[in-house]
Amino acid sequence: MRQHVNPLSKNFFAINPIPPLNQVFENPKLPLHLDIGCASGDFLFELSLKNKNWNYIGIEIREKLVLNANLKMKSRENKNLYFSFGNANNIFDHDKNKALIESIKSISFNFPDPWFKKKHNKRRVIQPKLINFLSNSMQKRSLIFIKTDVKELFDYMELTISESIKFNKLAYEDFRFNESFNPFKIKTNREKYVLLNQLKIFESIYMKI
Ligand SMILES: C[S@@+](CC[C@H](N)C(=O)[O-])C[C@H]1O[C@@H](n2cnc3c(N)ncnc32)[C@H](O)[C@@H]1O
Repeated sequence: MRQHVNPLSKNFFAINPIPPLNQVFENPKLPLHLDIGCASGDFLFELSLKNKNWNYIGIEIREKLVLNANLKMKSRENKNLYFSFGNANNIFDHDKNKALIESIKSISFNFPDPWFKKKHNKRRVIQPKLINFLSNSMQKRSLIFIKTDVKELFDYMELTISESIKFNKLAYEDFRFNESFNPFKIKTNREKYVLLNQLKIFESIYMKI
């Protein structure tokens, strides 16, 4: 399977509309979390089984991974999980997806990018246009979680988000994870690898004000 795809390729300009929440979730009224760049979805499968008080949507640009995750869904009992294929940069360009923003309580960007080099800035998933849309449209008090093991990427993500005056960085140490989308602090696959190799993890949480 291809490790990376170029999000700027015209193959990824169009994005699938996500169906109305009452068609994908057993209880569409639960708080909704969006995981951007969910890869194979292992993290979301575990999370959605352990925490049935939230609904989860995973967005992934590698189509094969989404097809496999959807196959796996058929043999599982996850009534609070949905996977969508596409470029997360464009997800809110689709009119039908714009309405989703009203239900979203939090978004995670977990180890989101393979694009470390500065010359590939434009391929990174966190782009000013996306952050601008989120800052204008997310509900007050909704959250953005960012996490990576690449310091340069972390600085770039922090800078891009903090350029919006509508996001406040929270004190990480005081954050109450038990009330969040990930109350058991389940680890993503990349996170497990990073911890095993004793590499540093950089993370921040932002709140829409
Ligand atoms: C390093 S992997 C991390 C996967 C997972 N979040 C984890 O922590 O284990 C980054 C994932 O983000 C996906 N990705 C990168 N750019 C994306 C984009 N613009 N839209 C959606 N997914 C993207 C990649 O295909 C890849 O699966």
